[in-house]
Amino acid sequence: MSNKSTPDNQNSDTSTEAKRILTGIKPTGIPHLGNYVGAIRPAIESIQNSDHEAFFFLADYHGIIGCYDPAIIHESTRAIAATWIACGLDPERVTFYRQSDVPEIPELAWILNCSCAKGLMNRAHAYKAAVDINTEKADVDPDQGVTMGLFGYPVLMAADILMFNATHVPVGRDQVQHIEMARDIAGTFNHRYKSLFTLPSAVVDNDIPLLTGLDGRKMSKSYSNTIPLFGEPNPQVSPEKQMHKAIMKIVTNSQLPDEPKDPDDSAIFEIYKAFATAEEIADMRARYAAGIGWGDAKQALFDKINDEVAPFRARYEELMANPKELEEILQMGADKARRHSRKQLDKARRAIGIRPLAKLK
Ligand code: TRP
Repeated sequence: MSNKSTPDNQNSDTSTEAKRILTGIKPTGIPHLGNYVGAIRPAIESIQNSDHEAFFFLADYHGIIGCYDPAIIHESTRAIAATWIACGLDPERVTFYRQSDVPEIPELAWILNCSCAKGLMNRAHAYKAAVDINTEKADVDPDQGVTMGLFGYPVLMAADILMFNATHVPVGRDQVQHIEMARDIAGTFNHRYKSLFTLPSAVVDNDIPLLTGLDGRKMSKSYSNTIPLFGEPNPQVSPEKQMHKAIMKIVTNSQLPDEPKDPDDSAIFEIYKAFATAEEIADMRARYAAGIGWGDAKQALFDKINDEVAPFRARYEELMANPKELEEILQMGADKARRHSRKQLDKARRAIGIRPLAKLK
């Protein structure tokens, strides 16, 4: 059963209309199991079983806010695009594009900047967190290291969303504030000029598991504790072996084989749950109680994940080896996206008084 919520103060007024779902993925790392379970798999599934319109995009202009390494931006754009397609995203069904291929988005962001109070941005969590860290140190400017990109991040995100009049925006909990800000900015514009932008609702899926990483902390590239989904580009070790090796590194307690173990205190079991059926989970609980050895528990986890992921590997490798095919897919997505964005930007410009003085033949 799904347990999706839109925050209370965001009663969507679009319930009778078709949904337009939109979400962005920042290309600043190689996809890992946490990304797969938390974002990729649920997004693809939610689209397959519905007739909603969907816009998924690589938020590369958001990526450069926190990542100054051009090779990482480039490589992870390629790996993330290949991952989504390999995992079953249908680029004919979904508008799948790269943010930077739609120049109308940053143009709209500028227009929205002029309908966004600076004070609203002062309250953004990411900005406040950066200032708090600086304030704790002596003799450091509160804004040290804060770029205008970081400060205005929610405005670019509002442009991503409002450009396509998205109604539903699936995001992690940390992003809900940004959707509220997009509503706020849209409201200011609509009130000041004309009602052009749909107010979007955040969709937070409470059923989506947050995976634990190899060291017991949340799985995250910032902790270097991830299990890669398809493996790092490394021709010496096959992607399957890389995954096996990573799983064998999951930290456990020092209980011996045959000692009964608590499944609810085990990262191995927690990840297993994200891939197994209810019956398989119950079965594995019994094996923990009966004292399964950690090595066997890890092997069972690997087998389970590998069953699901192995069929996608060949397609991933093929796309990674053939950037031309990927680029064509992204350009097709950009064409589709721009059919909307050109019109929407034109409307926004006209609303604020920017239009040709006369028609020239
Ligand atoms: N900020 C989002 C993140 O860090 C990525 C993102 C950019 C996004 N633009 C978006 C998500 C628009 C939803 C809608 O995860």
